Amino acid sequence: MKITFITHSTCLLEIHGEYLLIDPFISNNSFFNKNHSFEKFVNSFKKLDYILVTHAHYDHVCDVEFFSKKFDNSLLISNYEISNYFRKKGVKTEGINYGSFTSFSFGKLKYTWAVHSSVFNDGTYGGNPGGFILHTDEGNIYISGDTSITNEMKLFPKFGSIDLSILPIGGKYTMDIEEAIIASNFLKCKKVLGVHYNTFLDIEIDKNQAKNRFEKNDKKLFLLNYGESILI
Ligand code: NI
Ligand code: MN
Repeated sequence: MKITFITHSTCLLEIHGEYLLIDPFISNNSFFNKNHSFEKFVNSFKKLDYILVTHAHYDHVCDVEFFSKKFDNSLLISNYEISNYFRKKGVKTEGINYGSFTSFSFGKLKYTWAVHSSVFNDGTYGGNPGGFILHTDEGNIYISGDTSITNEMKLFPKFGSIDLSILPIGGKYTMDIEEAIIASNFLKCKKVLGVHYNTFLDIEIDKNQAKNRFEKNDKKLFLLNYGESILI
């Protein structure tokens, strides 16, 4: 599995030649647009198979409609309420909820609970916030979405070992670095891709200090620039 960091919490997964875009927040993201071009990004890939959305906050759903319509064979996977919201806008969706693993062409996926909130900018209820566990024959990953640390994270490795966790580390609205270290212990996971930091002034971190803190705890923290990838 190839995991490419785009910006904020937006990542692109490649599994068996299929592309999954996570929480797209690019076009109206001033941090991204300072140095990069949305148009160039859009033109950088020809195919999109799935869009995964963790919750309804604008910094996670900003470009869902755009990508769904540009790649009209793509399927949006999110909670039931977010799926309904976008289905009414003509998006192809699959609504799920906290429950069992569900099979897709890339493997199986489970919607996990998050301690956060979930509402669209227009005030529409966005269901319960969540994250995803993906089990594939190219590895298993956990995408927590925006969340505080939760005791339930201890349960997630019981479903199958986690090769990489994508966790927010910016603090204030989500976990910070120290909490993400505890979370990765709960998850029995040594590799963490940090997201949800530096995009806004109130979630700024010191990248070197963050990496050192993980290293001291016998973990590896990946902090990637736009377009950089890791393989698991
Ligand atoms: Ni949020
Ligand atoms: Mn957020």
